[in-house]
Amino acid sequence: MSLRAKCGASITTPIYHDLNMNKKFYITTPIYYVNDQPHIGHAYTTVAADVLARFHRQKGDDVFFLTGTDEHGAKVAESAKLAGQKPKEFVDEVVELYRIAWKNLNITHDEFIRTTDPAHIEAVGKFMQKLMDNGRLYEDTYEGLYCVGCEKFMTEKELVDGYCPDHRKKPKKIKEKNYFFKLAKYLDQVKDLIQTDQINIQPAEMKKEVLGLFKQGLGDFSVSRQKVKWGIPLPFDPAHNIYVWVEALQNYISAIGYGDNRDEFERWWPADCHLMAKDILKFHAIYWPALLLAVGEKPPKGLFIHGFFSINGQKMSKSLGNVINPNDLVEQYGSDATRYLLLSQFPFGQDGDIKESLFAEKYNSDLANGLGNLASRTAKLLEKNEIEIKSAKQPISDKVIDDINDQIERYKFDEALKSIMRLVAEANKYLDQEAPWKLTEADSERRSEVLNNVASWITTMARLFYPFMPIASHSLVEQFTGPKVKKEEGLFPRK
Ligand code: ME8
Ligand code: MG
Repeated sequence: MSLRAKCGASITTPIYHDLNMNKKFYITTPIYYVNDQPHIGHAYTTVAADVLARFHRQKGDDVFFLTGTDEHGAKVAESAKLAGQKPKEFVDEVVELYRIAWKNLNITHDEFIRTTDPAHIEAVGKFMQKLMDNGRLYEDTYEGLYCVGCEKFMTEKELVDGYCPDHRKKPKKIKEKNYFFKLAKYLDQVKDLIQTDQINIQPAEMKKEVLGLFKQGLGDFSVSRQKVKWGIPLPFDPAHNIYVWVEALQNYISAIGYGDNRDEFERWWPADCHLMAKDILKFHAIYWPALLLAVGEKPPKGLFIHGFFSINGQKMSKSLGNVINPNDLVEQYGSDATRYLLLSQFPFGQDGDIKESLFAEKYNSDLANGLGNLASRTAKLLEKNEIEIKSAKQPISDKVIDDINDQIERYKFDEALKSIMRLVAEANKYLDQEAPWKLTEADSERRSEVLNNVASWITTMARLFYPFMPIASHSLVEQFTGPKVKKEEGLFPRK
């Protein structure tokens, strides 16, 4: 489903100076488990991916933005059972909640993939067959501890008092015959690709963490399950279903025509950026590149690992009852402000704490009293004095714009937002100092000059804000492009 046509058409007026490079940019989010409805953790990653997708479209790049849902496996099957539904019935319902949440947040994914899509299932079958044909799989018996919450085998060392530290549950003992992937064969190659940044892992601490994993010793891993009934069968041994992680990772290539449309596949692959938090880093940084190499495909170009956040100092969890639903935030603040508030709270690559009380505070100071007030008083004065928009004497400098471009390129969203907010504050201060409302007809020239400067700054800020707050951006550009400017309803009413 493409939302591209709907969003971002008129705002693509040039603003950044390295335009016309027309690079391709393929960005992905994790595909989220549909065992439950989306929470703000999922929203955080998806909004960030949308910011990057919009930013690259704004620069004229050829963008493909993929998100979707991970629908097979024991975890989802258990949730369906609890809900008293068949797995497919259950996931069909939950997936709608994801679609609604992304619509509410104004997410412009080019495709929403579901791992129950027939095209995904077909592509995965071809991939697994190729692994088998290339001699990369072998049969063995597995005996170990499995955490259904993580959907992975765990070692005794990883447990805390016998419990999975993330899910606070005792893992299950499992013993079965599985197909194993010869990971060991690819470890040196993957490690080298990471060390030399051919697989570029950011931030640097995360690259270090991954390289550390190689030292702990990584074993071959099983790619199939005999006892998990909700899954995709192995083409060469349908008594086994494919291990949900092995199958889920392949969404990144099944969505772009792997095994079916080679031209389309090569147009986008390798991915420029797989975005995620560190909970799933090992799968993406080590297992995924190794699997790709084993079927003769290139590894992804880049991974960006953002922070994991807590809510008011606590881990977000159902049992603690502190899970924030993104739809509630959108209802309260609107989609633009929610996007802004999520990305401005702490640096993107670091863990952080979300304080709900800060949302209202920051909304009022930055958006209502800052940007909203600037726009409304400027529009009011332009309208009242019947000033026509003409080119500004003092536009915002290229240097300022290029710095913001740089910050976004380096995933420093909070800094980019601070930089743009600084421009808002400067413009408000300039208005206070020049006090154009005090100027009389005798000074109408000066009054027009001052207000034209501010109007031009507002349209520039609006374009800079576009990836983050597309609705406000559109309406400000429209309002202040002139020739006549009208006062409109406040963009961000005070809370
Ligand atoms: O792991 N802070 O799905 P998932 C920041 N299906 N980000 C958070 C977060 C938090 N507190 N909680 C969740 C899966 N996230 C697999 C992925 S991909 C081939 C398969 C975000 O529903 C973050 O992006 O558990 C994290 O990596 C992801 O949700 C995990 O989503
Ligand atoms: Mg998870």
